[in-house]
Amino acid sequence: MFKWSKDLETGVPFIDAQHKMLLKTINILEEIVEDDGVDTVKMESVISFLIWYSNHHFSTEEECFFKARCPFHELNKRQHQSFIRMVEEAKERFFRLKESGGDLKGFALELKRELSEWLVGHILKVDMRVKDYDVSVCYAGPSRSSG
Ligand SMILES: [Fe+2]
Repeated sequence: MFKWSKDLETGVPFIDAQHKMLLKTINILEEIVEDDGVDTVKMESVISFLIWYSNHHFSTEEECFFKARCPFHELNKRQHQSFIRMVEEAKERFFRLKESGGDLKGFALELKRELSEWLVGHILKVDMRVKDYDVSVCYAGPSRSSG
């Protein structure tokens, strides 16, 4: 089970909170594995939630990178798109395995490992870069013209 650590903090509390939520959700993929397979109803809702929540999280975070003028904004966006594709493909694979009676247990564990490794790597290599820029703009409300 993956544990959150201080090393993963970007210093922007809402980004950190969303990352914790994502990791928590990814960890559920391991919890739904049972002796004789997986709970397919739970698995489907975890994957669907992940797609919805990561879209929500990524757009919030991208807005922050953009406002803070972080030069890693485009790279961040591209990586986010590949994560979404990864989870969408996983959803299709899940349905195929469910229909054919394939190894859903192995699939859930592999997916959990794959997604958590991706997310932790991405947080450390890309999300962390925002630390060097002025993130106070991320807390400001809708932009107003100054002066
Ligand atoms: Fe990111």
